[in-house]
Amino acid sequence: MKIFRTKTTTPDDFEHTGLKKCLTAFDLTFLGIGAIIGTGIFVLTGIAAATQAGPAVVLSFVIAGIACAFAALAYAELAVAVGGCGSAYGYSYAAFGELIAWIIGWDLILEYGVAVAAVATGWSGYFNNALTAVGFALPETLTNAPSQGGIVNLPAAGIVLILMVLLMMGMRESARTNMVMVFVKLLTIAVFIGVAVFHINPENWSPFMPYGWSSLSPEGKPVGVLAGAAMVFFAYIGFDAVSTAAEEAKNPQRDVPFGIIFSLIFCTVIYIVVSGLLTGMVPYSQLNVPSPVAHSLQLIGVNWASALVATGVIAGLTTVMLVLYYGLTRVFFAMSRDGLLPPFFAEIHQKTQTPIRVIAICGVIISLIAGFIPLGDLAELVNIGTLAAFVLVCLGVVILRIRQPHLHRPFKNPLNPVFPLLGAISCSGLMAFLPVHTWIRFAVWLAIGVIIYFAYSIHHSKLRNQHG
Ligand code: ALA
Repeated sequence: MKIFRTKTTTPDDFEHTGLKKCLTAFDLTFLGIGAIIGTGIFVLTGIAAATQAGPAVVLSFVIAGIACAFAALAYAELAVAVGGCGSAYGYSYAAFGELIAWIIGWDLILEYGVAVAAVATGWSGYFNNALTAVGFALPETLTNAPSQGGIVNLPAAGIVLILMVLLMMGMRESARTNMVMVFVKLLTIAVFIGVAVFHINPENWSPFMPYGWSSLSPEGKPVGVLAGAAMVFFAYIGFDAVSTAAEEAKNPQRDVPFGIIFSLIFCTVIYIVVSGLLTGMVPYSQLNVPSPVAHSLQLIGVNWASALVATGVIAGLTTVMLVLYYGLTRVFFAMSRDGLLPPFFAEIHQKTQTPIRVIAICGVIISLIAGFIPLGDLAELVNIGTLAAFVLVCLGVVILRIRQPHLHRPFKNPLNPVFPLLGAISCSGLMAFLPVHTWIRFAVWLAIGVIIYFAYSIHHSKLRNQHG
């Protein structure tokens, strides 16, 4: 059987990005780092340390990093063998057929859409921190979701709407802009590390594992190092963005696997160092705040570094949101082009050359989510969706090796099927540590997706009609 589905929508289908075949391995690595480092390390580390893992959050990062490493190898293999920029959606189409591809595409919409909202709430925490520093603090009712005692998280909702307008105007993510932002982000981290190493109090690392490996909180929520890993997994999301740039790489067969794997290794090292220093600098119990990295520097009295870090983080989180938001519109667009979603979503505005309808609809919905739902809940929902996609991508490697043994694979997973199966097992294992309410929300989302598939997509699929 021949793969009939080797290419999903390319960026050129809807916008001339100017990046065509111009990205080097170095650019791709930077693209990955730009999309990866964000709310996960700058915000969730604090929440996970304070409420789930204690100083052992560093182990949570190691465990989540290992699961991601297997998934990254699977992405690397499929990105160059199957290609296209629809990422997991396109690979699933090749490996499993249309229904699973639809489910994964629907899942990616959840992942990217809710991730933008989650990063926006993280952005809001640092933005408020900066406003407070200059004496313009917003009232707490305008910076918190209703379940946290507020009315609306206004900065979070606002930044999404600003990004919506930017994307509608056709703001292009160029490799150079991304690189500048990544440098700002890395500089911020370097400043933090440079200050933190001189303010470590080893007593803060004890008790190291106050919640053990895995237990239940008095409210019945999973806690411990493994639940922490399921939470901080969010920090790694984004390396899959490198796979969506496969068509813009100069030498994709060599550079895409390099970009995916190297950006992941780099971020894992940074995460372990930063989380270790953060919990060594201040007691973990004080880190359950919206801007823990800047807050910890304030607690030790280094206010200039706190202000600098807060500013850098605000810039850094903006790029993460842009890349994820852009990825969301790309997946919507790819599915709509294939007929699985109404053509309404694939229409391009003639003047701006962007799919402004998708951008607008997504922007309004994401901004409402960011304004009214707290970060922890959002992050867990994103994680379950992403982990599900990773499980299928790992299984996709195994299935395609059987169904398409002669497919040209410039990059191969070592020890097939051991590595991809370990990836599927470790990602499913992390899913098991997410709370029940997250599973229910995820199941509801998938059920809605299946209904839409059978009510609409199956009848309008262009590939199904082409291939019978
Ligand atoms: N990995 C990205 C972040 O942590 C989504 O913000």
